[in-house]
Amino acid sequence: MSTWANLGLQDSASPLMEQLIFFHDHALLILVMITVLVGYLMFMLFFNSYINRFLLHGQLIEMIWTILPAIILLFIALPSLRLLYLLDEINEPSVTLKSIGHQWYWSYEYSDFNNIEFDSYMIPTNELAIDGFRLLDVDNRVVLPMNSQIRILVTAADVIHSWTIPALGVKVDGTPGRLNQTNFFINRPGLFYGQCSEICGANHSFMPIVIESVPVNYFIKW
Ligand code: CUA
Repeated sequence: MSTWANLGLQDSASPLMEQLIFFHDHALLILVMITVLVGYLMFMLFFNSYINRFLLHGQLIEMIWTILPAIILLFIALPSLRLLYLLDEINEPSVTLKSIGHQWYWSYEYSDFNNIEFDSYMIPTNELAIDGFRLLDVDNRVVLPMNSQIRILVTAADVIHSWTIPALGVKVDGTPGRLNQTNFFINRPGLFYGQCSEICGANHSFMPIVIESVPVNYFIKW
């Protein structure tokens, strides 16, 4: 989870989030190079002494500074598309979790695992345990097996919500009347925190998500 002064991304807990971090760093590097180059050129313009009186056009440089940005954009667009399709790929999921957004809590259904159904509410600050996380801990966690492909179906019962877990690289909108699908693979045990990321009403900040990632044999006994 994110703690004080963490302005970057959280440590990844899934292979897809790892790829998202690599892509973020790659895009940021290109951005920094462009900013430095353009910043340098703009700074040097202040010292222009207008010595080329008969300079009216430059075909070659115009060609270069038109085509070059297009090529640079390709270096961002192609890895971005690769990731986009990778995120959408579903590879034989072993568990399917359905999460339904409500004002203001999540309810979960494990339709192919003992037909478990439960609601998951935020623990109010005055009822919080001494080691609990304010506005982040819930009464019933989502227990999921690690090292398995998990499919998640997201929908909502009233308004649009968004099921978002930064460490897993998952953000899916829950829209009333629709069923959205994505998948993830948790590669370590632990607790992963998330929040609703779609402005859904007055208590939008108070519908967190907690995933409890456990080894598969623990999950089967659960
Ligand atoms: Cu549900 Cu914001």
